[in-house]
Amino acid sequence: MDSNKVFERITQLRKELEEHNYRYYVLAQPAISDYEYDKLMEELITLENEHPRFADPNSPSQRVGSDINHEFSQVSHKYPMLSLSNTYSRQELGEFDKRVRRMLGESCEYVCELKYDGTAVSLTYTGGVLVRAVTRGDGRQGDDVTANVKTIRSIPLRLRGGDYPGEFEIRGEILLPREGFLKLNREKAAKGEPPFANPRNAAAGTLKLQKSSLVAKRPLDCIFYAVYGDHLPYDTHYDNLLKAGEWGFKISDHINKCENIDKVYNYIDYWDGRRLDLPYEIDGIVVKVNSLLQQKTLGFTAKSPRWAISYKFRAERAATVLNSIDFQVGRTGAVTPVANLKPVSLAGTTVKRASLHNADYIELVDLHLGDTVLIEKGGEIIPKIVDVDRSKRPAGSKKVKFIENCPACGTPLKRDQDEARHYCPVEFSCPPQIKGKIKHFVSRRAMNINMAEATVDQLYSAGLARDAGDLYFLKKEDLMQLERFAEKSAGNLIRSIQESRRIPFPRVLYAIGIRYVGETVAARLARAFRSVDDLASAGYERLIAVEDVGDKIARSVTGFFKEEKNLRLIEKLKKAGLQLEMTGKDDNSKEGAPLDGLSFVISGVFEKYSRNQLKELIEQNGGKNVSGVSSATSYIVAGDNMGPAKLEKARKLNIPVISETELEKMISGKNI
Ligand code: IVH
Repeated sequence: MDSNKVFERITQLRKELEEHNYRYYVLAQPAISDYEYDKLMEELITLENEHPRFADPNSPSQRVGSDINHEFSQVSHKYPMLSLSNTYSRQELGEFDKRVRRMLGESCEYVCELKYDGTAVSLTYTGGVLVRAVTRGDGRQGDDVTANVKTIRSIPLRLRGGDYPGEFEIRGEILLPREGFLKLNREKAAKGEPPFANPRNAAAGTLKLQKSSLVAKRPLDCIFYAVYGDHLPYDTHYDNLLKAGEWGFKISDHINKCENIDKVYNYIDYWDGRRLDLPYEIDGIVVKVNSLLQQKTLGFTAKSPRWAISYKFRAERAATVLNSIDFQVGRTGAVTPVANLKPVSLAGTTVKRASLHNADYIELVDLHLGDTVLIEKGGEIIPKIVDVDRSKRPAGSKKVKFIENCPACGTPLKRDQDEARHYCPVEFSCPPQIKGKIKHFVSRRAMNINMAEATVDQLYSAGLARDAGDLYFLKKEDLMQLERFAEKSAGNLIRSIQESRRIPFPRVLYAIGIRYVGETVAARLARAFRSVDDLASAGYERLIAVEDVGDKIARSVTGFFKEEKNLRLIEKLKKAGLQLEMTGKDDNSKEGAPLDGLSFVISGVFEKYSRNQLKELIEQNGGKNVSGVSSATSYIVAGDNMGPAKLEKARKLNIPVISETELEKMISGKNI
């Protein structure tokens, strides 16, 4: 194909693909099958790769994102991103209406919209092309998230029609619809990662991911609610917003003009009862004065416009009966009460358990078994008890008493005055504490050993693991005694344990689980003291000299190394060959990088990369290249014509052999 023809075809494909995007993601009226769409996209990507001079940052092919880590630069907002004043009461809404009419000296029309519960973004379009996307930040300046925003399919990269202003900003809320949120959390749970508490956090967290290719995989959406610019087509908010819909933006189907405040109340009543029917979450209603001229007259307070207000719905609550209380013991010995409830439906899920804070709260609300309690779903996943209806208390019901002895080992509990918590003081003989420590040790961000929590329970019950050090002396035969283990699964687990010996010192220190020593503090301590022995002998004064280490942490560290059992654990870990000191490399290590702690042998000829490029890719992502296959090798990346001797050795040592594509997937965080 000659160059002109190629360019013509590329232009046509881009236009067609954007049209299909718009039909699918904005109008929800697809015109072609996913297969046909994928074919067109494939053709475009191939042509663009073959003819890089026709690259375009707003091509639909850019929506798959990139694997490059982005640092977000700060950008000032031309129009500050203010917040809205809130109210939960109709009376205050009535006062808002009176105030507005008094200041205007005339009546006014309102526009009611849903208050989408996601994260705000402001987009700038110049000449009909998306040039920048910025988060709210502190309202004056935010992060440039353009690369991530471009992966959101419902956001137009190029506008439709031609009657848009030469330059304008449009603001909207980036959302993760409920269905996508639940799916994401299921995937996280399968990988042993903590779930997002709610769709809002998930949307905000996703928008700030450093790799746009990961953002592209999450089904974010964006609904627009305001247009800003010097040359807007109309003098009302409503007409401008509807016009933006014609330019290709997704605007809500539920925007209503209301000629007076009574109509606003009707809108609120309507949506208060139906918000669960929406595919995404809303937390209230926004009421705005429609006329831009009237908006100007009303102006702003320091924080928010006087021409708008949000009416927030109360967090959803439900009443149910308290059946019993469980007391759970965590790895630090803290005891948390959890209420077992008569199952009740709340905000779309059936709730059987709720959290109860601490002993003070139980006392405060004078809780009795059989009480009717009010539960509320706030930001957290597990709902909490917020009130008790004492009028419904059954006669003769028993007052809930906080336990005095550990439910697991029977030891009398102690009370930590500062944190208002009860805890079991026998760290080394209380089973949930011992198991909790091992579970923390194997977790992904610590030693990343592929071991289910249930396996830790089994190992403990069988007497095979009394601390994390014991894991390194397990044999395949030990594991095969356990239920659900066979030759292969036992072999895999042993290998995962052995591989973890290469985890660098800062992460080992975090894994050991010294109280209050999280990932950041562990890294600081490792850099400051270089080895576990130096840390053990550091003493309080030297400890508190370290950044981020205060009195509480320093005391916890010195206390840890006074304890005989902990010293024995450290000895075991040393004997097992773990990294208990810094190596020169750890200082500039790519901690947390996708291949951190893994070593690779490259063998054969590859399609996409040269061998050197592959090596570079591995190193850039925190991995190590080694030349010979040994039991310390984590993976073999094999191309065509891999040497048979290497292959045989890999088989013998049970080392996984992966392709270059699988390596790419590991780097981008996909399961292989
Ligand atoms: S208008 C001057 N309309 O609520 C403020 N905001 O507290 C103009 N929000 O950060 C905002 N839905 O992200 C407006 N229909 C809507 C909205 C909405 C959600 C968010 C927005 C903003 C926050 C304001």
